[in-house]
Amino acid sequence: MGCGCFGSVPVQKKETSTHNDLEGHSLDNVRKFSYKELRLATYNFDRSTKIGRGGFGVVYKGILKDGTQIAVKALCAESKQGVREFLTEINTISNVRHQNLVELIGCCVEGAHRILVYEFLENNSLEHALLAKRSHNTQLNWKQRSEICIGTAQGLTYLHEDIEPHIVHRDIKASNILLDKDFTPKIGDFGLAKLFPDSITHISTKLAGTTGYLAPEYVLGGQLTLKADVYSFGVLILETISGRSSSTSSWGTTQKVLLEWAWELYEEGRLLELVDPDLHTYAEEEVIKYIKVALFCTQATANRRPMMSQVVNMLSRNIRINEKELTPPGFFQDSSENKKVSDATTSRQISSFPTTITQVTPR
Ligand SMILES: Nc1ncnc2c1ncn2[C@@H]1O[C@H](COP(=O)(O)OP(=O)(O)OP(=O)(O)O)[C@@H](O)[C@H]1O
Ligand SMILES: [Mg+2]
Repeated sequence: MGCGCFGSVPVQKKETSTHNDLEGHSLDNVRKFSYKELRLATYNFDRSTKIGRGGFGVVYKGILKDGTQIAVKALCAESKQGVREFLTEINTISNVRHQNLVELIGCCVEGAHRILVYEFLENNSLEHALLAKRSHNTQLNWKQRSEICIGTAQGLTYLHEDIEPHIVHRDIKASNILLDKDFTPKIGDFGLAKLFPDSITHISTKLAGTTGYLAPEYVLGGQLTLKADVYSFGVLILETISGRSSSTSSWGTTQKVLLEWAWELYEEGRLLELVDPDLHTYAEEEVIKYIKVALFCTQATANRRPMMSQVVNMLSRNIRINEKELTPPGFFQDSSENKKVSDATTSRQISSFPTTITQVTPR
């Protein structure tokens, strides 16, 4: 498998008991897999079972003896954590369960191997669904897209507001939104950054990156709060509606990130031009509301961005948004000669997200 980056980790004691216990550390909810079991499930980590590669390692599709399909993520990153810390984090992650979060089924800690086993999601990622649509004819309709936005927002609300301690995801993006057989969205990779506290290699690398998901205060000052996730979620809404990647920076003849383009269209009253040309039938008012919610989420001043529970309300309820409260977005522009953080306004006043932002439309 070629993923033995944990060389300094002490070799695992040979398993002698059937307890769900590794080197004396018990695991409440996590199923413990042997390396052999996962090798069998993936035909010896055969290339044909590989379904992707991310910053934390390679992902394989596996099938357990009882027929259960699994996604096997073989972690391959520098970690100074020992077995104890690793398992503590795994235990924490596995206790976080919600219908819009990818379920961690178990793990394997053997020798230098650190492997996570997740439920397998049949319809790949949102990134795949949006970008591969033309070739695969898997067109997401408006209902599916709006449900993906709402489901993702509910998963994030759970991470941000319902569990203690709260979890900041840090890496909300279309490839981390997985879709089950009914296209229900499930957020993947939450809590993973904590497994690598000293070297969140690929996330910090991306601080210099071009993805367009990162909140300006995070890029600028490394300030990581819940509101950085809210920003990324706003960008995700824009991608879901436009069918375009936020990292594609060319619109017409000018170089712009998706968010910058969306703001320009908003100011010119031409928001529907953002809509994916492949989306033929949709409720215009609703789509416009979603874009406006995205703009609220991506405001330059983090404190003005809504909490995720407010976002769920705005998206799912018959609510009119008070646009007077909307301030311009902040975005990170990246080109080799010109790395800068832009803010479409000169004002940087700090204020709280106004509660006057929404009104339930009277029936
Ligand atoms: N549980 C899963 N079920 C089905 N496919 C999955 C699952 N988890 C990951 N994948 C596939 O594997 C790919 C790689 O996932 P991975 O999380 O390693 O990378 P990424 O999301 O592109 O980047 P990052 O490392 O920043 O999360 C995904 O884009 C998806 O196609
Ligand atoms: Mg991922």
